[in-house]
Amino acid sequence: MRLDGRDPAAVEQAAEQLAAGELVAFPTETVYGLGARADDDAATAKIFARKGRPTGHPLIVHVPDAAGAGAFAAHLSPVAERLIDAFWPGPLTVIVARAPDRGAAAAGGQSTIGLRCPAHPVAHALLDAARRRGVLGVAAPSANRFGRVSPTTAAHVLDEFGDDLLVLDGGACRIGIESSIVDCSGAEPVLLRPGMLARERIEAAAGVALGEPTAASPRASGTLEAHYAPDAKVRLMPTAMLKTALQVIGPEALKLAVYSRSIPSGVAPGLVHRRMPARPEQAAHELFGVLREFDRAGIPLIWVEEPPPGPEWDGVRDRLRRAAAA
Ligand code: TXA
Ligand code: MG
Repeated sequence: MRLDGRDPAAVEQAAEQLAAGELVAFPTETVYGLGARADDDAATAKIFARKGRPTGHPLIVHVPDAAGAGAFAAHLSPVAERLIDAFWPGPLTVIVARAPDRGAAAAGGQSTIGLRCPAHPVAHALLDAARRRGVLGVAAPSANRFGRVSPTTAAHVLDEFGDDLLVLDGGACRIGIESSIVDCSGAEPVLLRPGMLARERIEAAAGVALGEPTAASPRASGTLEAHYAPDAKVRLMPTAMLKTALQVIGPEALKLAVYSRSIPSGVAPGLVHRRMPARPEQAAHELFGVLREFDRAGIPLIWVEEPPPGPEWDGVRDRLRRAAAA
């Protein structure tokens, strides 16, 4: 069931449902989340069941403001505090030491917990209304079945889960790919998942350089090699390779979609082409919707031109690489 997220009565109804331990999907500035109260393990368990997500994969807990982090964190390191100060509300998740008696299910049993305060008026209104009913935080992974493309509209969420799920509609998500995740629980902060916050901005706010994930870094399903996968097979190709491949392609073109910055010329007439925007913000905003559109059109194969090398493309490149690894 889709309700208008700008309607205060709808927000109250959704908050009531969260307080009662039920699931609610809601918009954030990154992607839509599938939420349940994080201070109730039985409620949180419903998320794993509905998504088909293994229970060991931790979820992000959404809090209404920076002070709300205290309900789930054992303590905040100075780096975590600086990042929260700089970027909340916004598309940044910090992994911190977990308060031992809170959020065990959301954390997948780990001693750390992922926390984020989203910058979206509907998410904010919902978290606030839920807090007035005693809800300390809302665990919410992206509102898609496990391993699939994250939803960036309410219609995507209903496509994933059917109409019996309450979805607050807040329009298309502004950013379009998931938050940047920084693990602040170790000796040095580590970027576990790139998003649309520039790495240099995160480092400037943290006051230290970000380390790279290692084999010992915490498990993060969004960092599994194969993730964000559409039904179609995705091939990511350097510009020159894509050009050559398009010159030699035959009747297979009828089953092929191309997502590239330049428009291929002189290729098979049946070929479906979408132009990848020149700006990374625009590419991120539309990426998951484009993959879903190709799926809906029944296209089995997508050739994607590798994004430019700059760090501002890290988030988009990461999602494309994982879609291609499936
Ligand atoms: O933008 C976002 O972050 C969206 C919106 C809804 O807020 N949420 C999202 O959640 O992407 P999800 O569950 O699809 O991805 C959360 C990622 C997962 O890869 C999870 O494993 C990781 O965060 N994560 C959460 N808590 C963690 C922890 N304690 N240690 C390591 N990774 C953690
Ligand atoms: Mg996800």
